[in-house]
Amino acid sequence: MFLCLCGAIGRVLIRAAIPADLPALLALDRAAPTAAHWIEAEYQRLFVADTGRVTLVIEEDYVRGFIIGRDLGSEWEIENVVVAEATRHRGMGERLVGEMLALARSRGAQAVFLEVRESNGPARALYSKWGFIESGRRNSYYKNPEEDALLYKKFVAAETGKAVEEGRGL
Ligand SMILES: CC(C)(COP(=O)(O)OP(=O)(O)OC[C@H]1O[C@@H](n2cnc3c(N)ncnc32)[C@H](O)[C@@H]1OP(=O)(O)O)[C@@H](O)C(=O)NCCC(=O)NCCS
Repeated sequence: MFLCLCGAIGRVLIRAAIPADLPALLALDRAAPTAAHWIEAEYQRLFVADTGRVTLVIEEDYVRGFIIGRDLGSEWEIENVVVAEATRHRGMGERLVGEMLALARSRGAQAVFLEVRESNGPARALYSKWGFIESGRRNSYYKNPEEDALLYKKFVAAETGKAVEEGRGL
């Protein structure tokens, strides 16, 4: 599905990723030190497995960001979200999370969860803004550098498609 949102920042598209987007996904991953880093084969698997859902934000024909969600049945996991450094602070991350919440809800998910480095203030603020609640900690979960993971969870089943509308309206 393609959705065109034409606002003050120009023409922005939100769409599902396709295999041809792989180089853009890898480039965004490699340029974001705090993102979850996957090897190319893991990204390729997203396009053959039923569970991986990748949504992109496109501006002026460039992939500016992506979000990856995993369908685990009644729960979904947000595995990664990245926005290109040059286009941050313009609501793209917020929009991507909103899209993934709406998708999970539309597929019958009851809740969406994720884990994030404790030091990742921008991502934690983004998730909090969307109403995710801190729900646990995994000590020394991350390596290089070693750090605790914080778990966040948001119940989505009771809401009625508000996720996207509540976003910044990109
Ligand atoms: C986290 C990330 C995706 C946010 O993307 P973004 O497009 O810049 O975020 P938005 O502009 O949509 O911001 C939405 C909200 O997130 C929070 N936020 C985003 N960047 C922030 C920052 N640098 N400091 C504090 N809060 C921040 C704010 O609450 C913001 O709302 P506000 O503008 O009303 O204050 C982006 O910083 C990124 O790609 N980081 C590197 C990859 C990464 O660490 N991903 C998380 C993996 S778990």
